[in-house]
Amino acid sequence: MKRAPLIAGNWKMFKTGSQAVATALRLAELSCDVKDTDIMIAPPFTALALVGEKIKASRIHLGAQNLFYEKEGAYTGEISANMLKEAGVSHVIIGHSERRQYFGENNEDVCKKIRAAVESSLVPVMCIGETELEKKDEKTFYVLDKQIENGLKGFRSDELSDLVIAYEPVWAIGTGKSATPDQAQQVHRYIRTKIQKMFGSNFAEETRIIYGGSVKPDNISELMNHDDVDGALVGGASLDADNFIQIIKFNRMI
Ligand code: 13P
Repeated sequence: MKRAPLIAGNWKMFKTGSQAVATALRLAELSCDVKDTDIMIAPPFTALALVGEKIKASRIHLGAQNLFYEKEGAYTGEISANMLKEAGVSHVIIGHSERRQYFGENNEDVCKKIRAAVESSLVPVMCIGETELEKKDEKTFYVLDKQIENGLKGFRSDELSDLVIAYEPVWAIGTGKSATPDQAQQVHRYIRTKIQKMFGSNFAEETRIIYGGSVKPDNISELMNHDDVDGALVGGASLDADNFIQIIKFNRMI
């Protein structure tokens, strides 16, 4: 059975609450006839509850861009899994390269955050990927191994049944320089083999591995034509609903 595609939009630090609601409403309207593809949008924290309320009746899943792993406490500026749940969130992006690069997150933090997500029944979208320098030094697979081994350390496969892995090569994010579909396929296959060794064949077959990094309406179809590419995590091209819908409806545009 082929995995259902997931097309997810990461809105990063863009859009106020009212701007996010307007984009979400437009996307809900444009996507009402989409049946076979899962859709997720991740607005900033301040827009979550507002957007959640508006898209409740649509097919769009609400995602957060981060969470903190403690349940509650004196952690100024942080947001817990339960707070996200109440705002209507079902998915949470964890370990995005911008969090790793600018806010010092490491694989151990990622592991704790995935634990917190799983315990609150949020779908974790774990981001992994190598930097330009690591790629140049031919360390891509070594880096991915460490991110996967340490990020998923101590989990049983049944705890991770909803896990989504997002492969986002750092050199492709926001640069317009997407990995070629063949490059993405090769790395996704490597990741699938890696999780098969850790968690078994069924787990590897069922887990969605999505690609992120300069995904656009004109490269999505070719990416999705590869067996191990199960969707996309889209930054810039998800900010405009009329643009993003062309990515979501990739298979109808070939
Ligand atoms: P771009 O699509 O803007 O390259 O961003 C990708 C990304 O970081 C999604 O999480």
